[in-house]
Formats: sequence, C-alpha cells, structure tokens
Amino acid sequence: MTALLELRNCSKVYKSGFFSPKVTVALDDFSLTIDEANPTITAVVGESGSGKSTLGSLLMGFIGPTTGQVFYRGKDMTTLSGAEHWQFRQDVQAIFQDPFAAYNPFYTVDHVLTVPIRKFGLARNKEEAREKMGDALRKVGLRPEEILGRYPHQLSGGQRQRIIVARAMLLKPKIIVADEPVSMVDASLRATILESIYTLHKELGVSVLYITHDLTTAYHVSNQIVVLYKGSVMEGGEVSNVVKQPQHPYTRLLIDSIPWPDVSLQWGKEPVIKDDGSSPTTTTGCKFASRCPHVMPKCREAAPTFFEVNPQQASACYLSESSPALAKSDLHRVLNKA
Ligand SMILES: Nc1ncnc2c1ncn2[C@@H]1O[C@H](COP(=O)(O)OP(=O)(O)OP(=O)(O)O)[C@@H](O)[C@H]1O
Ligand code: SF4
Ligand SMILES: [Mg+2]
Repeated sequence: MTALLELRNCSKVYKSGFFSPKVTVALDDFSLTIDEANPTITAVVGESGSGKSTLGSLLMGFIGPTTGQVFYRGKDMTTLSGAEHWQFRQDVQAIFQDPFAAYNPFYTVDHVLTVPIRKFGLARNKEEAREKMGDALRKVGLRPEEILGRYPHQLSGGQRQRIIVARAMLLKPKIIVADEPVSMVDASLRATILESIYTLHKELGVSVLYITHDLTTAYHVSNQIVVLYKGSVMEGGEVSNVVKQPQHPYTRLLIDSIPWPDVSLQWGKEPVIKDDGSSPTTTTGCKFASRCPHVMPKCREAAPTFFEVNPQQASACYLSESSPALAKSDLHRVLNKA
C-alpha cells in the first residue's frame, strides 16, 4: 500500500557563517512513514536543537532534504504537479507554537477561516461558510458569537490556538503537523487544545505528528513515540513501552528528569550528565557517547543501528544488541505496530 507521506533516509544539513561555515546536521538519515489507512498520533520528543522542527518543516514541504527523499502519495515531492501540490496543501496542515504568527493583525480572526474556505471551495455560499465556521469553532469549545468579528489581539493565546485547530478541522486534512502547539498557552488550556487535536484524530481519522519537548503530554496523547537526539532517532515504538521501559540511556535520562505526578513508573535512576553544548555535526560512533554513563569503546567507533527489543520498540544502542538488528529505514515497521 502506498504511504500518504514518507520520509526516506532524509538528512538536512545547514551551513551557517561566512568565513568559516559551521555545518549542522539537523536531521540525520531519518525515515518515517504515515499511512492513510492507519491514522496514528506520533510524538516526536527531544531536547532543544534535536531536529524536531526541521523534521516538521520537511513533512510540511517548507524545506527540502539535503539528501534522501520525501514522497507524497508515492510521488517524490519535487516532482508534484500543480494539482498534486494543491491536494498536498489541503491534506497536510500545520499547527505551530505561536498562534499569533498565523494571524494578520489588520483583519478580524474570521479571516483565518474564510480564506481557506474560499481557497479550497469548501462552501457554496456565505451562509454555508458561516455555518461551517460556527460548527468548527464549537467543536474546539469556542462560542462563535464571542469569537467572530474580533481582532487577534482581542483574544487570548488559547483562543487563538483553538481557532487554528478549528481551521484544521474545516480543511479535513489527512495529517496535522503540530509543532509545540501548547507550549505557549496557559497550563489550564493545554488539555483542552490537546483534546481538540485528539478529537480531530479520532473523528476524522487524521494522523498527527505531535512535536514536543514535553514527555508527559506526549505520553498521554500519542500512540507511538520517536526520541530524537542531535538529528538521530535514539529510540522509537509504542508509547507506553518506551516510556515505562525505556531501553536507550538518553530516553532514560529524559524520563528520569521529569517529575511524573500521576503515573507510577519504575526504572532505575540514571545519572544526569549535562549536554556538552556541541551542536549536531558529523560524528563517528554513537552521538550520545559523550553523555552516556554506559559508554563502551565500540560506541565511539561506529554508530549502532536499531535493535528490535520487542515487536513494538527499537533502540539504537549497543546495550540492546542481543536483540535482532533493524535497518534505520525500517523503524516504521516497529512504529506501525503501535
Ligand atoms: N535555518 C537554519 N540555519 C542553520 N542552522 C539551523 C537552521 N534551522 C535549524 N538549525 C539548527 O539545526 C538544529 C536543529 O534545529 P531544530 O529547530 O530542528 O531543533 P528543535 O528540536 O526544533 O529545537 P527546539 O526544541 O529548540 O525548537 C539546531 O542545532 C539548530 O540550531
Ligand atoms: S551505544 Fe554506547 S554510548 Fe550510545 S547510548 Fe548505547 S551504551 Fe551509550
Ligand atoms: Mg523546534
């Protein structure tokens, strides 16, 4: 079956600086498949600079990979026709961290809803458009009569973000890339917004890529999880497997540094070793070696591949090498079982 969206062995390298250019490998040989028939919520977690937004931008088609390919409905993104690109724009929608950026301050908030309705021909007349806008707003817990006709600065951050979720609902996309969608809203509203995104997934069968540095919400919302470190996947699989029995020392470190209020999880305390501050560049061996309490000589010689620790979990660490090896491009096999 053809995947809806697929990243195949994608790397993204940034060069910055004029006299002595600095090379940053923001994403390193990354593969992911999103199927239409099996909608999922995939959390992508990792520290700042691990490549999460770069991955989101690749999926949204905002940037192209330095090496590797992105396929939409089986076709290389660089070869899409005008009509296919139009379909892609409707199928793949974004929800970003800062909802304010999606608004034009000179227009009322109605604008972010009426433009896509017009652009994608979603209503036959003004009345139908108004009805659809009202339905979408009510679905995300907003009262249309309180929202429509106002300017963006007259609403709260949480209301602005919920309107963006309502816009995504209107377009009935197949995939939503949500990059830190709740990190700028009040804690009390986070659950409401994540719930709206979850409703989109459940009711409309939308796949969601939930990009976050917050493992707690990732655990509660998603089915599967990908843990990124300096552009590489350290561990991936079904979310409760990975969170309750993390196999990779980096995942353990991430989990051990979180105060979990309501989940009783058992794992050994990992010593917290601070990041050496280096940016992701090309390295031989395991990228986590300089922080890893279990580092072995071979870790510095060659990067480990994935090891399938169970049918729903893979870890890129030599500590799991007694499990069957899995090619990097085959991570989706483990993820899609989640
Ligand atoms: N346009 C760019 N030019 C140069 N380097 C970049 C560019 N965009 C991102 N980077 C670098 O690529 C790496 C990955 O960045 P990215 O924004 O994908 O990380 P992130 O995981 O989203 O981080 P955060 O949690 O802070 O949002 C970082 O080292 C970043 O500095
Ligand atoms: S491969 Fe080695 S350095 Fe990397 S996480 Fe595993 S034990 Fe640590
Ligand atoms: Mg980011």
